[in-house]
Amino acid sequence: MKAKMTVNKTFKIDKVDPRIYGSFVEHLGRCVYTGIYEPGHPTADAQGFRGDVKALVKELNVPFIRYPGGNFVSGYNWEDGIGPKESRPKRLDLAWKTVESNEVGIHEFMEWVNSVGAECNMAVNLGTRGIDEARNILEYCNHKGGSYWSDLRRQNGSEEPFNIKTWCLGNEMDGPWQMGHKTAAEYGRLAQETAKIMKMYDNTIELVVCGSSNNTMPTYGAWEAEVLDYTYNDVDYLSLHCYYGNQKNDLPSYLAKSLEMDEFIKSVAAICDYVKAKKRIKKTMYLSFDEWNVWYHSHTADSKSEPWQQAPPILEDVYNFEDALLVGCLLITLLKNCDRVKIACMAQLVNVIAPIMTQPGGEAWRQTIFWPYAHAANHGLGTVLTPIVECPTYEADGRQVPFIESLAIHNEDKNEMVVFAVNRSLDTALDFGVEFQGYTLGSVIEYKEMSGHDIKKTNTQQDGSVKPKDATATIDGASVKTKLAPLSWNMIRVALK
Ligand code: AHR
Repeated sequence: MKAKMTVNKTFKIDKVDPRIYGSFVEHLGRCVYTGIYEPGHPTADAQGFRGDVKALVKELNVPFIRYPGGNFVSGYNWEDGIGPKESRPKRLDLAWKTVESNEVGIHEFMEWVNSVGAECNMAVNLGTRGIDEARNILEYCNHKGGSYWSDLRRQNGSEEPFNIKTWCLGNEMDGPWQMGHKTAAEYGRLAQETAKIMKMYDNTIELVVCGSSNNTMPTYGAWEAEVLDYTYNDVDYLSLHCYYGNQKNDLPSYLAKSLEMDEFIKSVAAICDYVKAKKRIKKTMYLSFDEWNVWYHSHTADSKSEPWQQAPPILEDVYNFEDALLVGCLLITLLKNCDRVKIACMAQLVNVIAPIMTQPGGEAWRQTIFWPYAHAANHGLGTVLTPIVECPTYEADGRQVPFIESLAIHNEDKNEMVVFAVNRSLDTALDFGVEFQGYTLGSVIEYKEMSGHDIKKTNTQQDGSVKPKDATATIDGASVKTKLAPLSWNMIRVALK
């Protein structure tokens, strides 16, 4: 089989916003406690943050981290996490039926997020709380001093403001499971007034309003339109969430889930544009796909988890090779839509549906999905070129699915071209050529490929063998040529002259 991708210097989608490679840390399971934070761990720093986890987060090059939830934020009192640790209250978290010690709060998290070189995307509680809490936390975090909340922050040890630029207006407020769940009209008005007040303090902050929890919600579509009817002028991004799984154990169908993601993004963008047209507004609404990943492996185990434990091992999906291939397809899909998707957060970062796993007191290791994420976040920067892909297709779930998912990014800063490609074929290698029109190619800098693993193979603390290896590609005039192994993730970096 043969496949060809053509890109042309003048046909550009957009420049990638690095925040498309964001992640998510929620006070859920072992993401914070025994994930990023474990005082007494052999690699812990003076604040109790694990050095081995920090090193892996830096290796991923995560630029942007959403915090502190998720469903958790809809019942969270942020004031519980400030002041001396010994006097912080233990609270029941009703979202995950656990006990929250509040040992990590805003100060600790901000110190950690800065230390890994990422920016914080803070969510406010619009479930059990509202406008008053939102203006107070904003003042606490961002005001220099000379007011009640900013002086309290200084007393609590952070002289300088945190200067958090991007804020989420609640989480999944359309979901009946959410504490303080609201109708679109109830949420729309609350989000509008909260946004107004937050921007009265600082109109340079950016706000993300909640879209649907996923595209199967009964209110999906109508929710977006109504919420934006209230908030379009006051917010900057609309959120999308979606998790994927291979419950049917049908690999061709599973690997086609990225087409669903593509349709979801395009439909939500269309709803935004409908509201824009109706309101005769010039501003374009951008999208924040601030929860995406594979999530299904842990469902059965979690249904048996005992309630009211502290940091229990819940949502601990152990990812296999086929999950890494789908994550590769999902990353390419986000990039293909980078003219609308400016923020995206893989959910989550450590232990909880995450690329990084830890053993309490022991090792930290890379799950299979770590690799495509690391390749994209480290090298997928620059301008995405419109990919014209000619290749055979197969039928799955009523769609024609191309065997290859691919695109090319021109990294102007490094003067290189980066190609990402997944071969979805179960058994056939594809002769793959990429023609770069309008560029002069130098040599291949690096070609990393993940292939040849059993599709159900996972990485463990002892065995991290589902990982990339070197592969070869040749330059032939304006083209790069290679053979894409069946079921493979590929990253090819080519120097430009
Ligand atoms: O990421 C796990 C959970 O999934 C989040 O708390 C919630 O927002 C979503 O339903």
